[in-house]
Amino acid sequence: MKKIAIACDHGGYELKKDIIKHLTARGFEVCDFGCDSTQSVDYPDYALPASQAVAKGECDLGILICGTGIGMSLCANKVKGIRAACCSDTFSARMTRMHNDSNILCFGARVVGLGLATDMVDLFLDTPFEGARHNARIEKMMAIENL
Ligand code: RB5
Repeated sequence: MKKIAIACDHGGYELKKDIIKHLTARGFEVCDFGCDSTQSVDYPDYALPASQAVAKGECDLGILICGTGIGMSLCANKVKGIRAACCSDTFSARMTRMHNDSNILCFGARVVGLGLATDMVDLFLDTPFEGARHNARIEKMMAIENL
């Protein structure tokens, strides 16, 4: 059973509640790193602990939700070991697992609705990394962290 880290800011709070329900119904273990209301907060405070949990291997994959998904993805990609993809379509959510081995999916609650968000989450969690020619590209990408 995969363990999923999830976090949001105030903009993503309502959508996060529905996504957690969906993940739980599918049998995933969910680690919720906040926030816990629609009261205004700063997204880096929630992106960081969720991203660290994925980077440390405490969670298998992560989902971050803010208004646009952009702030969350920018923060997550500053954590070593994280490959966060901000998506607003199912093709990208699937391809970023297949080709980029992304370990965090970000999206915006002001950009996508529950139906699309749920489909993106399912594709992201269910699609394996293709490996092969993509391995060397991922290695080159991650080496940038050490420059
Ligand atoms: C909050 O108003 C908003 O800036 C935030 O949710 C996110 O969209 C940032 O990227």
